[in-house]
Amino acid sequence: MSDYKYSIHAENVNKIFFKKTEKIKALIDFDIKIKKGSIHGLLGPNGAGKSTFINILGGLVKKNNGRVSICGIDIDKNAKLSKFKIGIVPQELNIDPFFTPAELLELQAGLYGIPKKQRRTEEILHNLKLTNQRNAYARTLSGGMRRRLLIAKALVHSPEMLILDEPTAGVDIDIRSSVWKYIRKINQLGTTICLTTHYLEEAENLCDTISIINYGKKIKEDTKENLLKLISNKTVTFSLDKDYNIPAELKIFSSNINNKILSLNYDKKETNLKTIIDILNRNQINFNEINTYESDLEDVFLKLINND
Ligand SMILES: Nc1ncnc2c1ncn2[C@@H]1O[C@H](COP(=O)(O)OP(=O)(O)O)[C@@H](O)[C@H]1O
Ligand SMILES: [Mg+2]
Repeated sequence: MSDYKYSIHAENVNKIFFKKTEKIKALIDFDIKIKKGSIHGLLGPNGAGKSTFINILGGLVKKNNGRVSICGIDIDKNAKLSKFKIGIVPQELNIDPFFTPAELLELQAGLYGIPKKQRRTEEILHNLKLTNQRNAYARTLSGGMRRRLLIAKALVHSPEMLILDEPTAGVDIDIRSSVWKYIRKINQLGTTICLTTHYLEEAENLCDTISIINYGKKIKEDTKENLLKLISNKTVTFSLDKDYNIPAELKIFSSNINNKILSLNYDKKETNLKTIIDILNRNQINFNEINTYESDLEDVFLKLINND
């Protein structure tokens, strides 16, 4: 069973929540494939269904139907073993304030039935840079240290895969980059990673592959490189001296003139601004001013989720 290609493989998963009279479709025919060894981002706005999926993996939420396997093990056929393959870092920072990091990890190892000799408490504390805090009460730890402690806790049973639900939601920028560093390190040590995030920047920085989810539906799944190719669009506007008829050569740039402003969209990989200016000159279109806009990652994300 240890020979598998996908650490997570889900097909046609549906989950409906009932809230009083309301019926919430949290996941709709959701599918995903996460390759062993990768860092995969499950990216989507708040309420998209990310935590619902993570909770299904962890056995906290029961799906209505569909198939899910973790490291080649069907969660319906062997729930216990499939749970053992993953470590989940939950969205909320719920740490008992009266335990020290060392005690917390020992306690967790006990819960997993790991014999004392096989425990990796010191190694894990070291990898997450918590050795100096090993005997400090959790309540005295900074936000960044708490995040790392939760990651450490999820690693106690040496899972093949680490799943992080919004690992940097609500944390400072500097903490965010240190958490990214540890996630990369854990991945380099051989653990497959899946993280959920609503920060595009986080997915761009960390992930090899990305799934985009909105309203419970997966709308895109691809390598980061392929997704980034979608954002080579640029917009340029020219302030003209008067209104003109748009020459045919410019039609391919989804051009439009409004109130003496000509706006054009082009792919910066295929066209450069000079080509466009040459067309204007050839057609004796005079302008006083040029402005260019790069579409940013947020735009692409919005475009993708709005096209759905
Ligand atoms: N236990 C629950 N009971 C009722 N509705 C829920 C429950 N958990 C999640 N939901 C709803 O399901 C949808 C998806 O939520 P969630 O998976 O938490 O989204 P995300 O993690 O992407 O922000 C939301 O509309 C949310 O309100
Ligand atoms: Mg969530």
